[in-house]
Amino acid sequence: MENENIILIGFMGVGKGTVARAIVRNSDYFAVDTDDLIESLENKKIKKIFEQNGEPYFRALEKKCALWCEKNIKGSIISTGGGFYKQENIKKIGKVIYLQSTFEKILEGINNSPNAKKKLKKRPLLNNLDEAKKIYDQRVKEYESVADIIINVEEWDENIAAKKILDVLSS
Ligand code: S3P
Repeated sequence: MENENIILIGFMGVGKGTVARAIVRNSDYFAVDTDDLIESLENKKIKKIFEQNGEPYFRALEKKCALWCEKNIKGSIISTGGGFYKQENIKKIGKVIYLQSTFEKILEGINNSPNAKKKLKKRPLLNNLDEAKKIYDQRVKEYESVADIIINVEEWDENIAAKKILDVLSS
């Protein structure tokens, strides 16, 4: 469907935003990111929202954002925060693509990136890696069951992932 959105879901740091930008470079799509929308709405970084208002407040904003996306976004790629997949209306927003990788590979990718420290610091739920692994283990099956399409990005290059996604969508 021409106007259908693509929603990228997956664990923190798997590369949802990076893959979204690669899709934009290789297609006519435009991209938005749910965390960016929430940050601009609140005029605050996600980290600050967690610190000052708590996680439940952030989740309520995600819900608001999901309802807004359903009503207002068309023909776009929506990269999401790692917990956004829980939104009840997610399937109504568009086609859900799960970027799949192991916890170890995700951490390796973050640690090998030039701004690794920043990437870890801005994600409150990655502060404690034992806790983060527990969240990963809890979510893995849920990500799979929500997804319309699963793309494994373990050995990834964002351009290959983007191409795979565009190929699958056009087939
Ligand atoms: C979260 C993931 C983060 C951000 C928030 C909560 C999660 O986004 O939405 O810190 O619950 O997994 P990224 O997946 O972009 O790190």
